[in-house]
Amino acid sequence: MNSTAEISPYVDHNGNLVVERIRKDFPILNQRINDKPLVYFDNAASTQKPKVVIDSISNYYQTMNANIHRGIHTLAERATVAYEDTRISLQKFINASSSEQIIFTRGATEAINLIASTYGVQNIAQGDCILVSAMEHHSNIVPWQILAARVGAQVKIIPINDSGELILEAYQALLNEKVKLVAVNHVSNTLGTINPIETITELAHKVGAVVVIDGAQSVSHLDIDVQALDIDFFVLSSHKFYGPTGIGALYGKKHLLEQMPPYHGGGEMIKEVTYEGFSINELPYKFEAGTPNIADTVALKSAIDYINFLSKDKIRTHENHLLNYATSLLTAIDGLKIIGTAKEKVSVISFVIEGVHHQDIGILLDQKGIALRTGHHCTQPLMGRFGISGTSRASFAVYNTIEEIDIMVDALKNAIKMLR
Ligand code: ALA
Repeated sequence: MNSTAEISPYVDHNGNLVVERIRKDFPILNQRINDKPLVYFDNAASTQKPKVVIDSISNYYQTMNANIHRGIHTLAERATVAYEDTRISLQKFINASSSEQIIFTRGATEAINLIASTYGVQNIAQGDCILVSAMEHHSNIVPWQILAARVGAQVKIIPINDSGELILEAYQALLNEKVKLVAVNHVSNTLGTINPIETITELAHKVGAVVVIDGAQSVSHLDIDVQALDIDFFVLSSHKFYGPTGIGALYGKKHLLEQMPPYHGGGEMIKEVTYEGFSINELPYKFEAGTPNIADTVALKSAIDYINFLSKDKIRTHENHLLNYATSLLTAIDGLKIIGTAKEKVSVISFVIEGVHHQDIGILLDQKGIALRTGHHCTQPLMGRFGISGTSRASFAVYNTIEEIDIMVDALKNAIKMLR
């Protein structure tokens, strides 16, 4: 008898995903842009949403909209259960040991700012050092610079090689007892590099530093197990993995979250308030002041269910196929250089073309219905490291196809002819 997987319209008999079927779940893909079929290759900026996620937002407002954790009426209870169900889903998705270690935030950026403003202010002092890598997004640099300026600490940079890989020997040389925190992305949004976060964490722990992993770009591509990796803090953004915008999360080890002071003051984060003061609520509510983004949080569960249904392994296999195909075609274009050629990378390709400005590429490809991102990708220091002002970036998701890559490469060749 066939297994469910074998008879699923989403998987062919070789066990590969049926992308034509998956595309039907993403209504936005079925449209023309500038009179051409949309080719959406800006997934590292934000992924598109399957209909189950869109429907979940609508269903929330049509059947259960109410404030959570406050009312005793039926709708309030329904909304609370749905909101907390997402917390449990996310806990399982990244293998956290308890759901109270999942703190909802607006996204990865807010989660990093939360850590800097609470753990950072409490534990990092004058003369201490914070290490960040040379390939960080601004959101994993600026909060540490603000903290360093506030407490008199120093931010130091872990260098990378020309392929866009962290230089582990240089990292080890920077580690000493003054280093209190190491903040590194799991996957670079600009280069696609997958960082060896297990080794990074192990080495940081040897000098007593805590590790903050920015998982914004990894969750859609890689299995995450925060316990196995022994990560102290992990942050993510739902909109990067097929969920809604405006919702993300912070995972933290329980003893760290427990010792941290609250972030924002207000409702929900308190147990009791008097005119003289307040007592602090337990985890995770201690960090969730104010009415949260309930509808989008509820819909995030549908995104997680959708990914689990397709399976991360199968998604990665498909994306690697796209990455390898696009890499070979792009490398063959005269004057084109890929920025980010790490051995371990996800389906993100940044490139520069001799004599051609990335912005012109972006405009000409948009005229052909192709969405690329161009510019510095919120990684200005990284651009400086490579001596460039920006790149064109194609980033692939589960619904992208080989045919779309052919369309992009043809359009690119024509654009180069026009621009040179
Ligand atoms: N950080 C997002 C990107 O890489 C916005 O495009």
